[in-house]
Amino acid sequence: MTTEETGTHGAILADPPDTAAGDGAIVELRNAGKSYGNIRALHGVSLKVHPSQVTCVLGDNGAGKSTLIKIISGLHQHTEGEFLVDNAPVHFTTPREALDKGIATVYQDLAVVPLMPVWRNFFLGSEMTKGPWPVRRLDIERMKKTADEELRNMGIVLDDLEQPIGTLSGGQRQCVAIARAVYFGARVLILDEPTAALGVKQSGVVLKYVAAARDRGLGVIFITHNPHHAYMVGDHFSVLRLGTMELSASREQITLEELTNHMAGGAELAALKHELSQVRGVDTEALPEEGDLTVAAGGEGKS
Ligand SMILES: Nc1ncnc2c1ncn2[C@@H]1O[C@H](COP(=O)(O)OP(=O)(O)O)[C@@H](O)[C@H]1O
Ligand SMILES: [Mg+2]
Repeated sequence: MTTEETGTHGAILADPPDTAAGDGAIVELRNAGKSYGNIRALHGVSLKVHPSQVTCVLGDNGAGKSTLIKIISGLHQHTEGEFLVDNAPVHFTTPREALDKGIATVYQDLAVVPLMPVWRNFFLGSEMTKGPWPVRRLDIERMKKTADEELRNMGIVLDDLEQPIGTLSGGQRQCVAIARAVYFGARVLILDEPTAALGVKQSGVVLKYVAAARDRGLGVIFITHNPHHAYMVGDHFSVLRLGTMELSASREQITLEELTNHMAGGAELAALKHELSQVRGVDTEALPEEGDLTVAAGGEGKS
């Protein structure tokens, strides 16, 4: 059940290929942006993803989170700034190119076939085969065994890998998808709001495997609008608002309270505080002042 047995951070990865040139970031955005025609969805975003670290991207609906990960996962191309992988500028035109660089994305609406067994979904699109052509056939036993081992390695225990994946809970399906990305050699794992539709307990389970992926040396990009979830696993926090990055802070630079306040938005919170002061029983003195909400953590994201 523990992730300790997988060893130290970075156990699965070879040495970062760029130790001389850079600081070991696998993925980096420099002032990157994206316009859809006249609509500027993202502008001036700088971000780094390091092995064995969780980079959280927070923001409200429409903030540009999905646009950001679509650039990194090869679905869309940036129209401004730079996007580097292993310190070399890239312009992916398909998700396949991102995958070839080890960048795997787990989308919220997971690409699974609900009626197919768990093990079958684990290998979907990359099935193991045996025997020579033209009698090559699926190596079912090996796929079952490998899926079982890999899930166990990540501490995921399912009673029966024959059960249709559609019968698993949303959290369990996310976990299978994470284990799958790890098995197929991902170096960067992008998770788009994996806990958004989940209850407290299931969210906790998913967060556990986010940490497990990190402990195996992956750089994780964790998209969420929940600062509590982010703070439980995050090493770095980037907050997007209306397409620009309004905060970039490492864990040492920011407390959970500050991050939460940031997400709530200083001005909105001040207005809310005023309204709450009309309500009996709410201690508005305990709420933060607006001045406290502008965190002096102008990290690398602020240019
Ligand atoms: N394909 C698209 N064409 C035009 N505008 C888009 C497209 N995708 C996203 N946008 C716009 O870009 C902005 C950011 O969207 P998105 O990245 O989906 O935000 P988030 O994931 O944080 O909710 C929104 O204003 C959205 O309407
Ligand atoms: Mg989105």
